[in-house]
Amino acid sequence: MNRNVEMLDPAIMGNENSMYALFDYLRREDPVSYVNHEDFEPFWAITRHEDVKFISQNNNRFLNNPRTVLMEREFEQALLDQFGTRNGLETLIHMDEPKHKKLRGVTRDWFKPGPISKLSGSVQRIAKEFVDKLEDLGGDCDFVKEISLLYPLRVIMSIIGIPEEKEAMMLKLTQELFGASDPTQSRGEDPETNIAVLLDFFSYFKSLVEDRTSNPQDDLATVLANALLDGEPMEELDQISYFIITATAGHDTTAATVGGGMKALLDNPEQMARLQANPDLCASAAKEMVRYVSPVRHMMRTTTQDEVFQGQRITAGESLCLWYPSANRDSEVFSNPDVFDIERDNRNQLAFGYGGHMCLGQHLAVLEVELFFRELLPRLKHMEVSAEPEWVQAVFVGGLKSMPVSYRF
Ligand code: HEM
Repeated sequence: MNRNVEMLDPAIMGNENSMYALFDYLRREDPVSYVNHEDFEPFWAITRHEDVKFISQNNNRFLNNPRTVLMEREFEQALLDQFGTRNGLETLIHMDEPKHKKLRGVTRDWFKPGPISKLSGSVQRIAKEFVDKLEDLGGDCDFVKEISLLYPLRVIMSIIGIPEEKEAMMLKLTQELFGASDPTQSRGEDPETNIAVLLDFFSYFKSLVEDRTSNPQDDLATVLANALLDGEPMEELDQISYFIITATAGHDTTAATVGGGMKALLDNPEQMARLQANPDLCASAAKEMVRYVSPVRHMMRTTTQDEVFQGQRITAGESLCLWYPSANRDSEVFSNPDVFDIERDNRNQLAFGYGGHMCLGQHLAVLEVELFFRELLPRLKHMEVSAEPEWVQAVFVGGLKSMPVSYRF
């Protein structure tokens, strides 16, 4: 059996060592690899940086619709039956031009570096709240479950305008959506249960739109609820889907980066010492954490014409799967790619994707990670991992599920 099917195994992808070993092998031996597994529609796995970047950059040649994320055949069919598309939802990430650009325009300015830097004060307050919580926990806790998972959730919920009492529900729904292949996070295995998760998101955001239409406030929910496209209100389905992508894309990913970034510092005490001695390196360290963790494992594209990559012929209409953690460890682009280096030049990293769909929330994500460590490191005297960390078993958004630590302030 071809080794490439290992990328469909959540247990292999949920373990850093086995995931990177697989990608090292594929980049070297089989960089454009045809994956044929009975539970999935076939696709080409793209693992080299140059190919991932080229495909991401050419949005009109490689489309996001109809197949954006890897899903089992049976689940894709259930979505097709229920929603009329293989993706189920149609959020920004599932759209192509011209609709994508139009909808992205609704929040594009909101997420630019200038407006995002104005949020520094409130993000910093939330970072302090969580570092205070860590101190109050007294020296032993699960860093992931009690801190890193909850901090980005509070940031994105406050930006959208979702009240604190709904956070637990949003976290559960996001984990059920992204961790559907992890037995400890999914609601159930059958496709109907996964569709029920989507419907729960719908019903909550529908009520939020109703509220912000009649009671506008200074939050992202108000921008989305009242946006006009060509002078007309957004279609309800587009609007609710927009809420779902901003709420879900905005926390599990950043949470994985804060958790994985903390682990990387603990595994590399010389980097930790360098950062503690020079907190101004936190912005650069945050970008290295994003590269090193690469929490979004893949996105897919569909070819519109015949292509040749690394000598492999690909026919128009076939699917490509872009593996970001692999591209970010490609030694053609990064020297010593497996080394965690807080001063690395990360301009070429692809953890946020590239091209027209490049992560809308990237500046917010980096700010959140930076401000957390800026608050924590001057106060932290010592920390160590006190029991084996656990990883989410997922092939889409990965990261730590648990990391018990002992520490002193
Ligand atoms: C470290 C944290 C994050 C990582 C690694 C990450 C990664 C990604 C990636 C890989 C994509 C697809 C890019 C492509 O196809 O070229 C994406 C898209 C997106 N991300 Fe993020 N993301 C993060 C945080 C956030 C945050 C905080 C938000 C805030 C709302 C966000 C919102 C979005 C949205 C809306 C899209 C869809 C953009 C489009 O299709 O036009 N992300 N992200």
